[in-house]
Amino acid sequence: MRIDALPRFPLAQLPTPLEALKTLSRQLAGPELLIKRDDQTGLALGGNKTRKLEFLVGHALAQGADTLVTLGAVQSNHCRQTAAAAAKAGLRCELILNGKKPDVANGNLLLNEILGANLHWIERSQRAAKLAELDAQLRAQGRKPYLIPVGGSNGVGATGYVVAMLELMEQMLASGQHVDHIVFGTSSGGTQAGIVLGARLAGFKGRLHGLSIDKNDPEHFEYEAEVAQIANDCAAYLGSSERMTPNDVKVVYGYQGEGYGVVGDLERGAIRLLARSEGIVLDPVYAGRAFGALMDLIRKGVFKKGETVLFWHTGGSPALFAYAKELA
Ligand SMILES: Cc1ncc(COP(=O)(O)O)c(C=O)c1O
Repeated sequence: MRIDALPRFPLAQLPTPLEALKTLSRQLAGPELLIKRDDQTGLALGGNKTRKLEFLVGHALAQGADTLVTLGAVQSNHCRQTAAAAAKAGLRCELILNGKKPDVANGNLLLNEILGANLHWIERSQRAAKLAELDAQLRAQGRKPYLIPVGGSNGVGATGYVVAMLELMEQMLASGQHVDHIVFGTSSGGTQAGIVLGARLAGFKGRLHGLSIDKNDPEHFEYEAEVAQIANDCAAYLGSSERMTPNDVKVVYGYQGEGYGVVGDLERGAIRLLARSEGIVLDPVYAGRAFGALMDLIRKGVFKKGETVLFWHTGGSPALFAYAKELA
């Protein structure tokens, strides 16, 4: 493996804290709960994408790129962190966002503008074509764009979560903490791919549960195959001979509610519960949904007293302010 030899641009404050949720664990009288604070990665209000971007920006700079180009939803945390990473690395940033420009920019969208990104609005169905068009336009202007897929989820980006898993193993070793289950939200797959590969490489013995934020396909293993493919691209990038199959990827479905980005009682309840018991703020789209799912699984006895469950907080809290009405 050659992680130390890979191009990497420092963006994150690492290691992120590993904390015990003592009050909430006592209240629930179920498993011991720990939290890994990747909401505290430190770049423009933090989140999981910062770890991926260290390797993506490193790769972009190694190729002589001068512009980062990526795409996402209006409240994409990935786009906001890409805009911040570009600013820090002295690169320009072009963001392709779904839909129409709202009258008032809030949350992540406000931050994109503050961070100096150039925004392009397009219907979701046409964004692949828009990406190709923008890439060609920038090249014609003599610029050197570096394209980052949705969520930074490819083999290069997932490297950030291989490193994160190695970091967690070191923290567990140093503190003597044992973890039976790791739970996190999963959507474009790069976080899960890195965690799954990192766990294999580090010899983690517990179980990994990706809570699907936006898919409902327990039958066909399509998403599991996508995550395994990203993990395998990542292994190849690292020079590792490990290979994953869809069976190595555990995804929990059934918590999509009314769909992606639609806040319901699950998210509202989870956000208030963690805030009022531990003073930790979740987000309405990803970590709030994943934490709500975890609470439900504890209630159903899937995770039990005597076990230790680590919730990986992947960030996203800037979106809270764009959901003020739904959260009230
Ligand atoms: C806050 C937050 N958590 C979790 C995820 C899911 O991570 P991934 O897209 O790598 O599956 C995202 C992705 O957009 C996110 O912004």
